[in-house]
Order: sequence, then structure tokens, then C-alpha cells
Amino acid sequence: MRKYIIAGNWKMNKNLNEAIQLVSDLKTELDGKVLNAEVVVAPTFIALEVVKSLVKNTSIKLGAQNMHSIDSGALTGEISADMLKSVGCEYVILGHSERRTIFGESDEFINQKVKQALKNNLIPILCCGESLEERENGSTFKVVESQIRACLNGLSNEEIKNTVVAYEPIWAIGTGKTATPEQAQEVHAFIRGLLTNLTNAETASEITIQYGGSVNAKNAKELLSKPDIDGALVGGACLKADSFRDIILSV
Ligand code: PGA
Repeated sequence: MRKYIIAGNWKMNKNLNEAIQLVSDLKTELDGKVLNAEVVVAPTFIALEVVKSLVKNTSIKLGAQNMHSIDSGALTGEISADMLKSVGCEYVILGHSERRTIFGESDEFINQKVKQALKNNLIPILCCGESLEERENGSTFKVVESQIRACLNGLSNEEIKNTVVAYEPIWAIGTGKTATPEQAQEVHAFIRGLLTNLTNAETASEITIQYGGSVNAKNAKELLSKPDIDGALVGGACLKADSFRDIILSV
């Protein structure tokens, strides 16, 4: 059966000392607890190595927030899959709406990154989701379908199975406006159906589909109780160890 995954996307927050503090607090909060979900933290690049050393011998996994699609070269300011592997990353968030809208990343570029991550044994957390305008004009399914088809283009069933999908409606990110559990489930079921078309029912049933967008300690339980919601990608609420713990323990 598929895994529940709760991932914390720290975005551009926490300097080195603050990162050490946050992950140390999280370790304390989770100590001795029975976890029903895989826990992933995705700090900034500068904190990856120290966070990795602090989560050693715990069940907390390391993720990165982005990477480039090629092996190495003259790409000032970029980071490669191999570099992320070398500091102990197991996951990488790709195609986040902030990367798409602020940094102009296209589906084609994200598709290259997904392939590169898989080639380097990193698990991509592939983000998709519609804007408020798209939701209001009724094109949510169309937008999500075209993002997923394009970003998974050319992947084998096995590769798709090794990918995590995160549905993150843009209007719910950082706004305090969560999709209702029913709204989220509707899109998650649609995504599962699409993944079935792209692969087969057995493969699609094993793919973790996370919800993201203003997930917090109060709304997590109900969202995560829906049949096709297999975890959460958490922004704001992962920046405090106790609220992230409550989300993790709501699985
Ligand atoms: P949020 O961010 O929880 O602050 O809405 C979620 C995300 O962007 O992954």
C-alpha cells in the first residue's frame, strides 16, 4: 500500500542557527512517538548538511526545494541532483507554484528535472495546482491534467510509481484559505484516475498524492482522512516544531 508522507517545505526561511534549532526541536517533539507517516524536511540548501547530520539515526528524511535538470556546468547559482544526493537528500520538491510563477519554470523544464531526479535516485515531489482564476472559470481539472501529463512525459510506469505528486491549489498557498477536504479529495481522485490512465490501476494505487496549501494542525486530520489524500506538503505550519508535530501525528 502507498505511504503517507508529511513534508515540510521551509522555503526561504531560517538561517543556519535557526535551522539547527528547528530540526532539534522537531526531533524532541517526535521522540518516542509512533509515526504513521514518512516525515520529510526540506530546508534551504545551506542547511541541508547540518540538518542531515542532526536527523541521522531518526526516521526524518531530508529533501531539497529545487534543483537543476543537468549534471553540472556553467550555471551560476544552481544546484545539481548529484550534489543533493551527496549531502543525503532523498526527496526533491519540483515544480512548486512559486518556481513556476516567480521564476517562470515551464512544464517542459520541470519534466527534465523530474527525469534527472529519478536518474539520480531522488524521489521527486511533483507539484501541480490551479490558480484562483482557473478554479473560478472551471478549468481546474484541465490545468492539473495538462501539468501532470507534461511533467511526467516520457517516464516509465516504474518511474511514475517512484514519484510523489503534490496537489497544491495556488489560491490556498500561504493564504490561510484551505481547500475543503471535499474539494481536495475531488481533485486527488481525478489525479489518481489520470495516473491510472498513464500507468495502470495497480501502479496508480501505490502513488502518494499529497495535499498542500495552508495545511495546519487544525485542518490536517480531516484532509488526511480522505481516501486519496496521502499526506501533506506543509509551508508555514512546518516552521514551528509543535505545529508540524501535530500535523504529522494527525495521520
Ligand atoms: P503553505 O505552503 O502551507 O504555507 O500554504 C504550502 C506550500 O507552498 O508547499
